[in-house]
Amino acid sequence: MKRLTVPAIRKRKGADNEPLVMLTAYTVRMAQLLDPHCDMLLVGDSLGQVIYGLPSTVPVTLEMMAAHGAAVVRGSYHALVVIDMPFGSYEASPEKAFESASWLLKQTGAAAVKMEGGAAMADTVRFLSERGIPVMGHVGLTPQAVNMLGGYGARGRSDAEAEKIVGDAAAVAEAGAFAVVVEGVVEPIAIEVTQRIGCPVIGIGASKACDGQVLVAEDMLGLFERTPRFVKKFDDMAGRISAAVERYAADVRARSFPGEEQVYAPKN
Ligand code: KIV
Ligand code: NA
Repeated sequence: MKRLTVPAIRKRKGADNEPLVMLTAYTVRMAQLLDPHCDMLLVGDSLGQVIYGLPSTVPVTLEMMAAHGAAVVRGSYHALVVIDMPFGSYEASPEKAFESASWLLKQTGAAAVKMEGGAAMADTVRFLSERGIPVMGHVGLTPQAVNMLGGYGARGRSDAEAEKIVGDAAAVAEAGAFAVVVEGVVEPIAIEVTQRIGCPVIGIGASKACDGQVLVAEDMLGLFERTPRFVKKFDDMAGRISAAVERYAADVRARSFPGEEQVYAPKN
């Protein structure tokens, strides 16, 4: 099975196309399980909270993204793999961003990077895109800016904020982003952004009118404890893991595990 390409993703713009399916993946086994069903796998910097128990994505490093990105590429064959640029690795200048992004792609074999920010990042998006690095934008609620925003509430409730989000999306799209994530915005803004810009818009806490959807896999599987309103839980894996471990613990304590099938008989 051939891996999806950036031009193939770009072509999926528009309400007449099948929506793009995207989930986060951080590990090889999860990548293997998600890959057959997804168009894109995102190695999100959300791994800071989900895998490492960090308080935000701010402390996540390039080295962490590279290690998990390589694992996800090894575990996937079909989906386009996109790696988040962590906070501090790209904002200072287009040159700095190119250095970080090219290193990530060399380390992992992934095809594209994602970076947060709108108009302020447009020059950087153009710099990378013109030099062979496909960039996915990310506007609206941008979690790396939590220290400026003061929290993770929905964006775009005031007219000024709404206008800024639409302008940000347009700026990165015009600069050459091949797709743009719109996160945590009131629905009319997500719809306006989707209609306004020329590349696929991937929604999270946005609207079904977007050209695709993304969620954190652990959230939609019911594996992570704290989830925002926009997460639909498609399973309760935390409950199922607890129940399985409870059975294991009971078997060990009752000396009923290991049983006959799990022990090696001596040679006869
Ligand atoms: O890091 C992440 O998981 C993300 C998605 C939720 C868009 O950026
Ligand atoms: Na992210």
